[in-house]
Amino acid sequence: MKNEFIIADINLAPEGHRRIEWAWQYMPVLRLIAEKDSLRQPLSGVVIGACLHLEAKTACLLKVLRMLGATVVTAGSNPLSTQDAVCAALVEDGIHVFSRRGMTSTEYTDNLREMLKWDPQIIIDDGGDVVSMIINERRDLIPNIMGGCEETTTGIMRLRAMVAEGVLPFPMVAVNDAQSKHLFDNRYGTGQSVWDAIMRTTNLIVAGKRVVVAGYGWCGKGTARRAAGMGAKVIVVEVDPHKALEALMDGFDVLNMEEASKVGDVFISVTGNTKVIRKEHFQNMKDGVLLCNAGHFDVEVYVPDLADVSVETVKSRENIDTYVLADGRRLHLLGEGRLVNLAAGDGHPVEIMDLSFAMQLLSAMYISSTKLAPGLYNVPDELDKNIAELKLESLGLKIEKLTPEQIRYMASWRD
Ligand code: NAI
Repeated sequence: MKNEFIIADINLAPEGHRRIEWAWQYMPVLRLIAEKDSLRQPLSGVVIGACLHLEAKTACLLKVLRMLGATVVTAGSNPLSTQDAVCAALVEDGIHVFSRRGMTSTEYTDNLREMLKWDPQIIIDDGGDVVSMIINERRDLIPNIMGGCEETTTGIMRLRAMVAEGVLPFPMVAVNDAQSKHLFDNRYGTGQSVWDAIMRTTNLIVAGKRVVVAGYGWCGKGTARRAAGMGAKVIVVEVDPHKALEALMDGFDVLNMEEASKVGDVFISVTGNTKVIRKEHFQNMKDGVLLCNAGHFDVEVYVPDLADVSVETVKSRENIDTYVLADGRRLHLLGEGRLVNLAAGDGHPVEIMDLSFAMQLLSAMYISSTKLAPGLYNVPDELDKNIAELKLESLGLKIEKLTPEQIRYMASWRD
């Protein structure tokens, strides 16, 4: 038997509607697409299963999917990023929601199972757990699945591993890899929202602190740049020699974690890897350091090791657990080591998610209208470009157009 929804409290809906309305105001690209396509109903009759961070911006995407004709079923992609008020508002708007803030890992997987009982034909995944569950537990759904879209770097890594093993059973579009997504969401979105979350959670100053950023990819670059902008001394830890050099030439110090762990005041991991900050590093740290993770899974700041090296854990503030070492040093973990910007903040700025979710929306429509063989696909260039054009249009900005002579010049080699 399938449930209509499982959420914390439907009475929270009015607050959820207020939050969604605020976000909607600042999502012009999503609004433009919705306006253009709502009469056509391109997703009519399609069941979409979306596992995403269930907060106000995501709610706007889900509502547009429904406006365009889809039946929308959703589960939260992270226990601490689910906002119960938003879930309640979505239920009132006719969306099937399975999530609550603080759900246990068993509840999390049970909620994914509830979502899959609705036989989704298009999957919107964030981190790869839904696709992985379909392969492991619900192969019966595969013949009916048109395909899906993946939101984040970690999910793409897992999809690539599935392709390499020959087990990915349907087409997936790598939304994360579109320019309209990672150039803005991973870089500027993570860059701003990570600091927003750290500042509001700790009430501490950033200027003058030594901030250690592990991972100098798209997210790490944004996080480091914003820290520097606020006066922090940034240290980058990398495994990739090119990225390490890039960080150096961008003006940051480069150290390995062994050395950085001795001097850092704030640690932020954003690698998509596991055990990036672990036992031997915790043992080196100064009293009062902040430990934050912005990578997709809660395995980067390795919490079991943190528990091992400490003699006591205290809840110091909302979203801060303090681990006390035998000699009295206090290491403060934000948001349980989960994506700090979502667990201890509101996630990316609204305008950023307008771009990312508009990309998800166009990709979902692309999947529903195109027959593709199983595999991992890039977002078609014209869709990617279309998002940037719509954003510029919404800002009233004009850019240069190539003249026919310039087009010819760039395609020639003689002069
Ligand atoms: P990316 O692939 O551009 O960068 C990751 C970097 O980490 C690479 O340069 C890699 O060399 C480095 N790295 C890997 N292992 C390392 C280690 N042990 N120590 C130091 N550096 C290491 O990936 P991107 O797009 O920056 O994403 C990183 C993570 O953040 C992923 O898990 C992704 O899913 C997640 N993400 C989080 C967001 C948020 O809102 N917090 C938003 C978007 C992505």
